[in-house]
Amino acid sequence: MPVSSQPLTGGESENWWKESVFYQIYMPSFQDSDGNGISDFTGMTSRLDYLQSLGIKGIWLTPFLKSPKVDNGYDVAGYTEIDPVYGTPDDFKNFLNEAHRRDIKVIMDMVVNHTSTESRWFQESRKSRDQPYRDYYIWRDQPNNWESFFGGKAWEYDSLTAQYYYHKFDVRMADLNWSNPRVVEEIQNVLRYWLELGVDGFRMDVINFLTTDGILSDNPVKDGSQQHIYDIDQPGVMEAMRVIKATVNEYDNRFVVGEIGSDKLEILSQYQSPELMDVVFNFNFGSIPEFSAERIFNELQSMEKRMPGYPTLFFGSHDMPRLIDRLADGDPGRAKALAALMLTAKGVPFIYYGEETGMQNIVAETMNEMVDIQGKTHYQLALAAGKTPMEALSEANRHNRDKSRSPMQWDGSVHAGFTTGKPWIKIHDNYLKVNLEQSLAFTGSITNTYKALITLRNKEKTLQVGSYENLELKDAQIQFTRVYKDDQITVIINFGNDSTIVLPAGSEVLMGNPALKTNDFLIFRHSSGTKR
Ligand code: NOJ
Repeated sequence: MPVSSQPLTGGESENWWKESVFYQIYMPSFQDSDGNGISDFTGMTSRLDYLQSLGIKGIWLTPFLKSPKVDNGYDVAGYTEIDPVYGTPDDFKNFLNEAHRRDIKVIMDMVVNHTSTESRWFQESRKSRDQPYRDYYIWRDQPNNWESFFGGKAWEYDSLTAQYYYHKFDVRMADLNWSNPRVVEEIQNVLRYWLELGVDGFRMDVINFLTTDGILSDNPVKDGSQQHIYDIDQPGVMEAMRVIKATVNEYDNRFVVGEIGSDKLEILSQYQSPELMDVVFNFNFGSIPEFSAERIFNELQSMEKRMPGYPTLFFGSHDMPRLIDRLADGDPGRAKALAALMLTAKGVPFIYYGEETGMQNIVAETMNEMVDIQGKTHYQLALAAGKTPMEALSEANRHNRDKSRSPMQWDGSVHAGFTTGKPWIKIHDNYLKVNLEQSLAFTGSITNTYKALITLRNKEKTLQVGSYENLELKDAQIQFTRVYKDDQITVIINFGNDSTIVLPAGSEVLMGNPALKTNDFLIFRHSSGTKR
């Protein structure tokens, strides 16, 4: 029987998540305490004071359940067991209590599309065609043409029972069969287990991929690429989400954010509602491949016009290259301007750990250094297609998600945060140019800018829940006014040339300066009734 965490802090609203800035921690990379080179709950607890001082109100933890870590925890082998490398159940409870004590909520990454093939369910399932766990997974005599998200085929032949099982991701990550009511019940109980323990919600991994319908048809192929007509967004997915959300709603004040693999806003928006996912990640906005003020603006505008509900705001995660390399060409000024956008626009902001210090991408110099399964898979596919090992390495690096997963740089030492052992992932000294200690010491640094912006957002209800007025792009300046009751706060982010803003009479500057150089921003409050 799980022991509940201390009660949550009182006086909170049901929509606390609208008022919160979230911080994503990539589990193995935050703070080690026992010298095994992998971050753990005890180490992470010791860093909660820092997170509190940054002002964040929610933490998203990537998976920490028992796992062989083919995909660093996204391959769960035991849904109610903490992986021992991250500590004991008590270490986790202590982390949760200490976070709550500091007014910080904790949401877990919940992966229910697939399990590790090492999970007991799968081990039972593969034993014979007629045993009770067989239908927990998807077995067929013949595969169809579906592809794995990581590259290659999505079906694996198992000679033990002479059938193929379906895996949308790696061959060691078998898809659960969501048309089996027993699977649904099992997962409901898993959710309840963690909710009882006191977690504040979930980030539901690839939740629109759940396989709910008959698997018969080949996906059509257009211009050489497969169209996901039959494997994603199937009719039963919505019902599965409804059950998941209803289960979460058995508990007060919890929050669910859905990872939806789709670039279509009409698909994304259909999943966002209080009965399905509270909010969803929109990768059209969050993972734009390169900087464009126009593109960012267009995405903000589309979310406003075409996605009812509350958007999410992010420019980084463990699946994409770091913000500063991808969108700012290494320029801290641009990185700060993007932070200003993310922390003042309408939506729930998610900061990716280390982004607030300007942490950069790492690159694997040899295949031995590469851990990410997606990078490794592309290496093998490139070799199989006749590429040389060097070409295959560069192809693998293009897909390699290790880039943004290096250990948090707490200070200038080589393995900061991992001082008693080498980190789980190879880093080269040239990637250690920035660190938190240094960044905190310098006024106007990235970290201090994040801090000031979060402090402002935490103070100003209008920046948390205000609606938009005048969302505009003018000469590469993204501008908007947030309105809540009688209050109006205008934000101008200047990605264009230098310019000076004439403030309306009676305005109060909250942050920035009306003389805007490139990448500067200005946040000001209007006197009541004054509009820009
Ligand atoms: C999405 C996660 O963000 C990614 O890291 C993982 O590889 C896949 N889902 C599979 O679970």
